[in-house]
Amino acid sequence: MAEEQSQEVVSKRKQTQKIHPIAIANGKTDEEFIRDYLQPSQDWATWTHPPTQKPYSLEFLSSHELSKDDFRSCFDIIELTSGADYRNSSVGWHPSMKKKEMRSPDLRYILVKDNQSTVKGFTSLMPTFENHEPVLYCYEVHLVPELQGSGLGKHLMAQLITIAENIPSTKKVMLTCFTSNASGLKFYEKLGFTKDAFSPRDRTLRGGKVVKPDYVILSRETAHGGVDGEWN
Ligand SMILES: CC(C)(COP(=O)(O)OP(=O)(O)OC[C@H]1O[C@@H](n2cnc3c(N)ncnc32)[C@H](O)[C@@H]1OP(=O)(O)O)[C@@H](O)C(=O)NCCC(=O)NCCS
Repeated sequence: MAEEQSQEVVSKRKQTQKIHPIAIANGKTDEEFIRDYLQPSQDWATWTHPPTQKPYSLEFLSSHELSKDDFRSCFDIIELTSGADYRNSSVGWHPSMKKKEMRSPDLRYILVKDNQSTVKGFTSLMPTFENHEPVLYCYEVHLVPELQGSGLGKHLMAQLITIAENIPSTKKVMLTCFTSNASGLKFYEKLGFTKDAFSPRDRTLRGGKVVKPDYVILSRETAHGGVDGEWN
């Protein structure tokens, strides 16, 4: 009898245990994710290049849904725009590691395609925990050279910010940028990103030489700062 009662208590406790919003977000299908976190921003799926008036479409999909061609295009764009930054850093350029990261299970993509269905840019994102805080991590944002400086980067980041604002508890949008990428740093600064408290610091060696990290962690708080009574 006592055992039956305690089993009932355990089962009730299981029923009332809450699932964290980050886990809920990662459990959603792409359709649910768009509906619940992205849809509030209207016309997210189209973008027109201001000078040429050429239309582009945005596609949202999980890493495992990327076609071989689209995956390859994303990889090639990263190498084109940032390969030199990787090679010149202590991280180095390791194609197989990058491809593995690009296939991370909870990673989702927003692809930008022209009217020939060719990928011209993309961003990738993951709701996750960093230093025990719920965040939306921007893994990549890259555009082919002809679309840089067009406002498209800002449009993609606006989608990420919308997603972060709509996932309860999410405290900030977070990303990593090479310190050698001066243009990228200016872009993020313009969008309100600042150096995160967890960004690596300068190291002073025994001889007094100061070693500067070759990447910086930037973040931008969500409007609600992750305030959600149940999770704070
Ligand atoms: C970084 C990148 C995604 C930015 O996208 P973009 O379309 O070029 O940037 P946008 O035109 O949307 O710029 C948004 C704002 O940032 C400003 N900005 C962008 N780059 C800037 C720069 N180098 N210096 C000063 N301001 C800059 C723009 O003037 C604009 O300001 P506004 O809102 O007042 O008009 C794109 O340039 C890119 O793909 N670069 C190569 C890959 C890369 O470095 N990715 C980041 C890796 S961490």
